[in-house]
Amino acid sequence: MDAQRLKDSFAHVAEQGDAVALFFYSDLFVRNPHLRDMFPIGMSGQRDKLLRALGHIVSQVDDLADLVPFLQQLGRDHRRFGIVAEHYPHVGASLLTTLRHYSGPAWNDDLESDWNAAYTLVAKVMLEAADENALSTPAWWNGQVVAVERRRFDISVLRVQPDRPLPYVPGQSVALEVPSRLRHWRYYSMANAPRPDHTVDFHVRLVDGGPVSPVLVRGTQTGDRVRMGAPIGTLTLDESSPRDVLLVAGSTGLAPLKAILEQISRRTVPPRVHLFFGARSRDGLYDLEDLTKLAGGFPWLTVVPAVSDEPGGHGFSSLLQSGDDGVEHGNLSDVVARRGPWDGHDAYVCGPSVMVGHTVEQLTRLGVPRDRIRLETFADAQR
Ligand SMILES: Cc1cc2nc3c(=O)[nH]c(=O)nc-3n(C[C@H](O)[C@H](O)[C@H](O)COP(=O)(O)OP(=O)(O)OC[C@H]3O[C@@H](n4cnc5c(N)ncnc54)[C@H](O)[C@@H]3O)c2cc1C
Ligand code: HEM
Repeated sequence: MDAQRLKDSFAHVAEQGDAVALFFYSDLFVRNPHLRDMFPIGMSGQRDKLLRALGHIVSQVDDLADLVPFLQQLGRDHRRFGIVAEHYPHVGASLLTTLRHYSGPAWNDDLESDWNAAYTLVAKVMLEAADENALSTPAWWNGQVVAVERRRFDISVLRVQPDRPLPYVPGQSVALEVPSRLRHWRYYSMANAPRPDHTVDFHVRLVDGGPVSPVLVRGTQTGDRVRMGAPIGTLTLDESSPRDVLLVAGSTGLAPLKAILEQISRRTVPPRVHLFFGARSRDGLYDLEDLTKLAGGFPWLTVVPAVSDEPGGHGFSSLLQSGDDGVEHGNLSDVVARRGPWDGHDAYVCGPSVMVGHTVEQLTRLGVPRDRIRLETFADAQR
C-alpha cells in the first residue's frame, strides 16, 4: 500500500465538498435499500461523518500506533448501530465507486488496489474489536428515566436507571438515543460516580434547533425509555497524582467534573479541590445550590461560581471582581487565571469549545504543563 498515494487521492476527492458524501450515500442506498433504515431519517449534519473519519484514517495510515486504537473504538461504537460483518462489503463497494467517480483520470488499477487493501484492513480491525467487545459488553443498555428536574427553561437534570450495571469511570460519557429521535445518537456525560443502585444522572442543555437536546430537556418524563451505548472518554481522574485538583466547568460541562468530584470525595484523604463553575448569567448556574452544599460539607473543596454576561453590581470596577454573593464576574478563563497560581495542580476542563480553548491557553500561560490538563468539549465527537 502506498500511503502517500492514498493521501493525495483522498485530498483530491475531498476538495469536491459535500457532493462526495451525497454521492456515496445515494449509491449505498440505491444498491442496498435495506441499509437505509439503519441511518437517521434526516441525515443533514450526519452525512459527512463517515467520510470525515475516512479522511482522518487516511491521514494516519502510516502511523498505526495512533490509528489502530481509533479504529478499534469506532468498531466497538458501531455495535450499537447494529452493524455486522456482512454490511462492510456494501459500504466498501460504494466507497470505491465514489472514489473512482471523483478521481476522474487519476484513477487506475494501482490506486484501486491500494484503496481496496486499505478498506479491507480498516474493516478487519473494526470488526475484530467489535467481536472481542461483544464477548463482555452488550451493544447497548436500555434505560428508564426515573426522575426529571427542570432547572431552567433550557436545562434539565435526568436520572436514568439502566437495565443492567453500566460500568464507567467518572468523567466518561455515553451516546444516548431517545425513541422519538431514533438513530440520532448524542453523547452525554454521567454526572455522578457509580452508585449502588446503578442510576446515572445527565445534565442536558437545550441547543436551539438540535434534534435531540430539546426532546431531552423539554419533552422527557419519568417512565420514558432511552438507549445508551458503551461509555467512552478520557476526561478521567489521574488517581496516581499527588497534586491538588482544579476543575473548570462551563454550563453542563459541569456533569463529568461533578462525577470526578464525587469520586474524589470517596477518598480517605482527598486533595484540595477548586471547582470553577461558569455560565453567562446567574440562572445558568443551575447546580449551584447543590455545589454550595457540597462545599459546606467538604473542607477540602472550594466552589467559585462565575458569570460572564452580567454587570457586577457596584460600578465599573466590579465587572472584574467578585460580587457580594461570591459570584465572580468575567470570562471563566479570566476568573480562573486571577485566582491562581495553578502550576502545582492537575486541571480538568469541560464545556463549550471556545471556553475550553481559552482556559487551556490561560493555564498553559500560567505554567500548568499541557499534559496535566485533561479536557472534553461538547462539540461534535472526536471524529
Ligand atoms: C463527549 C461529549 C459529551 C457531551 N456531554 C454533554 C452533556 O453532558 N450535556 C449536554 O448538554 N451536552 C453534552 N454534549 C453535547 C451533546 O452530545 C449534543 O450535541 C447536544 O445536546 C445537542 O444535541 P442536539 O441533537 O440537540 O443537536 P446537535 O445536532 O448535536 O447539534 C446542533 C448544533 O449545535 C452544536 N452544539 C452541540 N452542542 C452544543 C453546545 N453544548 N453548545 C453550543 N453548540 C452546541 C453542534 O456542533 C451542531 O452544530 C456532549 C458532547 C460530547 C461530544
Ligand atoms: C471504513 C469503515 C467505516 C467508517 C470509517 C465509519 C465511520 C463512521 C463514523 C465516524 C460514524 C459516526 C459515529 C458516531 O457518531 O458516534 C459512523 C456512524 C454510522 N455508521 Fe459507520 N463507518 C464505517 C463502516 C460502516 C458500515 C460498514 C456501516 C453499515 C451500513 C456503517 C453504518 C453506520 C451507521 C448506521 C452509523 C450511525 C448513523 C450516523 O451517525 O450516521 N458504518 N460511521
